[in-house]
Amino acid sequence: MEWDPNAYLSFERTRLQPAVDLINRIPNKNFNEIADLGCGPGNVAHLLSQKWINANVTGYDSSDEMLAKAKQTYSDINWIKQNAETFSPDQPADLIFSNACLQWLHNHETLFPNLIKQLSNSGVFAIQMPNNYRRPTHQYVKRAAKETRLFNKLEGLFYPIPVNNPDHYYDILSPLCRQVDIWETDYLQELEGENPVADWTAGSYLRPFLQTLNDEDKIRFEQHYRNLILEAYPKQSNGKTLLPFKRLFILAIH
Ligand SMILES: C[S@@+](CC[C@H](N)C(=O)[O-])C[C@H]1O[C@@H](n2cnc3c(N)ncnc32)[C@H](O)[C@@H]1O
Repeated sequence: MEWDPNAYLSFERTRLQPAVDLINRIPNKNFNEIADLGCGPGNVAHLLSQKWINANVTGYDSSDEMLAKAKQTYSDINWIKQNAETFSPDQPADLIFSNACLQWLHNHETLFPNLIKQLSNSGVFAIQMPNNYRRPTHQYVKRAAKETRLFNKLEGLFYPIPVNNPDHYYDILSPLCRQVDIWETDYLQELEGENPVADWTAGSYLRPFLQTLNDEDKIRFEQHYRNLILEAYPKQSNGKTLLPFKRLFILAIH
């Protein structure tokens, strides 16, 4: 899918917070090679390079649009076009970090062991995956598709929930890692705007659906989705909107 870095960054502070929280949990030791998988517009790789100032930080992403934005904003980091599924760096990584990317990939049972193989001895695997699939943000995409009779055009884009239960990841990682910490956080995200929750998903989960439809269908579908979302996420008395958003974190040491 094509990303729009500016739409994605319009909620920069809120989208960045889980990455900051994860960075703060990483053991404070020296890393030589740091890989940020699915680095997007590069702001998280930049935080990593500021915390580990002697490390060689490389941001990997499959999107030309995101990499162009990253290159334009941060010149002191290496940016490489790379599918996370086939990540195999020349040097083992001391830290593989990934914020809000691996949920786009649906083969965690093979992907995660392969990523652990790319770590040096005692290397750290630190990832965060959004897990809001059971909430209106995500469920109402299907509902809007059905209610606008566009489901047959969008059907191929729906997939089973890609983020599994924490114990599933524990079973994948514990035979390969000396320490595995997994936790979930439900962020109560405060957003501003007329229909900010719909704007939020338009920058991420909703994008492939909008990109598939012709202009006429797109307007009809998006408008219906926006109406459903506005009803599901009403404004608070101060005019702001709260978006509860669940995220799964994994911190494992090889
Ligand atoms: C939601 S953005 C997260 C960006 C960044 N990590 C952040 O926290 O701001 C997801 C990113 O994952 C990238 N991505 C999705 N699938 C990928 C894949 N198979 N390999 C590499 N990057 C991928 C997208 O291009 C996009 O930049």
